[in-house]
Amino acid sequence: MTEDELPVGVHEEHINEPVVEKLAKGEPLFDSIVGYADVKKLFQMSLSSDKPVHILLVGPPASAKTLFMLECMKLERSYFTLGSHSTKSGMIDYLFEKRPRYLLVDEIEHMPMKDQTALLSLMEAGIVSETKFQKTRNTQLKTWVFATSNGADRMLTPLLSRFVVLHFKQYSFGSFQEVCTHILGSEGVPSDVAAAIAEAVWTKLRSKDIRDCIKIGRLAKTKEDVDWITQTLKSYKQ
Ligand SMILES: Nc1ncnc2c1ncn2[C@@H]1O[C@H](COP(=O)(O)OP(=O)(O)O)[C@@H](O)[C@H]1O
Ligand SMILES: [Mg+2]
Repeated sequence: MTEDELPVGVHEEHINEPVVEKLAKGEPLFDSIVGYADVKKLFQMSLSSDKPVHILLVGPPASAKTLFMLECMKLERSYFTLGSHSTKSGMIDYLFEKRPRYLLVDEIEHMPMKDQTALLSLMEAGIVSETKFQKTRNTQLKTWVFATSNGADRMLTPLLSRFVVLHFKQYSFGSFQEVCTHILGSEGVPSDVAAAIAEAVWTKLRSKDIRDCIKIGRLAKTKEDVDWITQTLKSYKQ
C-alpha cells in the first residue's frame, strides 16, 4: 500500500454490493481494514466471479493479512483454518462434511506439504479425493481458497501458481501513522495523541507493528503519557 492510497476511507461501500447477499451477518466486508482499497476490490471481484478465483496475500508481519481472512469469515459457508493447525484428514473431513464455499487458510506456508498437495486438486478441478483403508472417496466442490503467507518460499510452486498472488509491502511511515490514527480513533484516542504514538513507536521503539500502537493507545491519555510509556518500554526492551 502506498501513502497516497491512504486515507482510503473513500467511499468503498459500493464495492460491497455484489456480495451482500452472501454475508452471514450482513456486516460490510472489510470495514475494519484501513486502506487497501484495490485489494478489497479484487476480493469483491473474485467473490462475484462465477468460478473460483483464489487469492494469496504474502507480506511482512502486521500488514493486515490475517485481518483480511478474519473479515472473510463474515461470508456464509466460510471456514477458517491456521496452516499450522490443519491436518490432512481434519481439513479433508471438513471439506467432505461441510462443503465450505470459502476456505480461509492463515499462514499457509506452515501447512504440511501433504495438506498443500490436497489443495492442489481442490483449487484446480474442484475435486477432493481421499483414499483410506483401501477405500477412495471423491467429491466435487466449488470452493474459493483465500490464504496468507509470511513468505512464499516454503510453498509448492504448483500451489502458488493456482493463486492470484498479492505481495503486501512494509508500511511507509505515512501509512503506518494513518492506520494507527484510524484504529486508535475508533477506540476514542484523540488524533494528536494517536499521531504521537505512531511516531514514538516507529522512531523510539523502532517497531512497525500497529499492535504496539494499540497497546500504548490503551494506556496513554496524553502526549506526555506517550513519551513516558515509550521511554519506559524502551528501557525494558531486550
Ligand atoms: N490496514 C489495516 N487496517 C486495520 N488494522 C490494521 C491494518 N494493518 C494492520 N492492522 C492491525 O495490525 C495488527 C496486525 O494485523 P494482522 O492482520 O494480524 O497482520 P499480519 O497477518 O499481516 O501479520 C492487527 O491488530 C490489525 O488490526
Ligand atoms: Mg497473520
